[in-house]
Amino acid sequence: MALYTFNELLRPAHREGVAVAAINIANYETAVAVYEASEQVKRPVIIQMYSRMFGNGKAEMLIPLLRKLAEKSGQMVAVHLDHGASLEQVRDAIRWGCTSVMFDGSNLPMEENIRITREVVKLAKAAGVSTEAEIGHVAMGDEGHLTEPDEAKRFVEATEVDALAVAIGTAHGYYKIAPKLDIERCAAIAEALPETPLVLHGGSATPMEDVKKVIRHGIAKINIATEFQDTFLKAARAELEKLDGKFLPIDRFMDPVREKCVAHAARLMKEFAFLE
Ligand code: 13P
Ligand code: ZN
Repeated sequence: MALYTFNELLRPAHREGVAVAAINIANYETAVAVYEASEQVKRPVIIQMYSRMFGNGKAEMLIPLLRKLAEKSGQMVAVHLDHGASLEQVRDAIRWGCTSVMFDGSNLPMEENIRITREVVKLAKAAGVSTEAEIGHVAMGDEGHLTEPDEAKRFVEATEVDALAVAIGTAHGYYKIAPKLDIERCAAIAEALPETPLVLHGGSATPMEDVKKVIRHGIAKINIATEFQDTFLKAARAELEKLDGKFLPIDRFMDPVREKCVAHAARLMKEFAFLE
């Protein structure tokens, strides 16, 4: 199966009232783990990379690998630029083979966010690539602010973006206190935008009970980075401790680490699709 745009994954999920996991990978092992999980649970998946990886050469090198894995996969796969920082970055992501791109103008004044997002949409549409943008701001070590339903509607109408990231109470990274999602706000946004798949950023460590409620209110893409990458790091530490200073080639060392990442990703994909 070849690559898909995220529209091809998200629209059916949105209609069915389930969500697709969008997982941030950072290297070969985390990429393969996400593909293996997708095959194991027979769910589509969005593989994404942090914006900084598009600035330091890593995404350019990893995208061909992701595309090759997607061709071998029996499931639908999209490759995505997460939190794109500029038009330049969006252009690079499209050129290197992403099938969807996010432009994050959530810290800009609304009109500026609309203006750049419109350009992103134009560029992406011409290339057959799907788009995501954000209104309201999901905190990223800074101050967040929640999405207003009327602003969300105006933003989508003005930009024609395919999927909209909304701020409804999550934040990026781990929490000091468990977040409480604003389910009513999510429902109001979904009511204002019944055709638009909504995106939940900052998915790590969010109570699954709340996550499942917002999936029922328009959330069709759930971004997970921190907790997945932490599984990789913790598994690597555990394997190093087992070795106790002895040598093991890296490819063999990584096998059990990758297995733990597969299990983590598979669990998320099942939860987001209400599978047992
Ligand atoms: P977490 O790191 O909190 O899971 O957030 C992921 C995310 O929103 C990536 O865009
Ligand atoms: Zn995010």
